[in-house]
Amino acid sequence: MALINWSDEYSVKINSIDQQHSKLVELINQLHSAMKEGKGKEAIGRIVSELISYTKVHFTHEESLMVKHSYPGYLKHKSLHDELVNQVLEIEKELNSGKTVISQDVLNFLKKWLVEHIVGTDKLYTTFMNSKGVV
Ligand SMILES: [Fe+2]
Repeated sequence: MALINWSDEYSVKINSIDQQHSKLVELINQLHSAMKEGKGKEAIGRIVSELISYTKVHFTHEESLMVKHSYPGYLKHKSLHDELVNQVLEIEKELNSGKTVISQDVLNFLKKWLVEHIVGTDKLYTTFMNSKGVV
């Protein structure tokens, strides 16, 4: 079973962002399967680095929409993004140095990280963005 099942509750009502969020869900699910299947460090490392680079692409997209439309919550939102990227880079560093392995704890952290950010922070911009014609 997948670690995260996409639900309508995660929709921010903006197509491009929903698509990117579901790709992030997919990458975390891939990591979960790879762990369950006992995949090696290299395979896990590849998914983690894809997760990090895609997260950056996604955050840049979201932030550029916020800047373009002068979203009032931009600065606070951006600082949460920066914090999240740093946390995941830290996990990558620990994985690379062998200090940690992908575990259920790490996966639960990633799941919580993504879901809480979408539901608690991203959804705050829905009404604003929709009112600017971003759908
Ligand atoms: Fe965000």
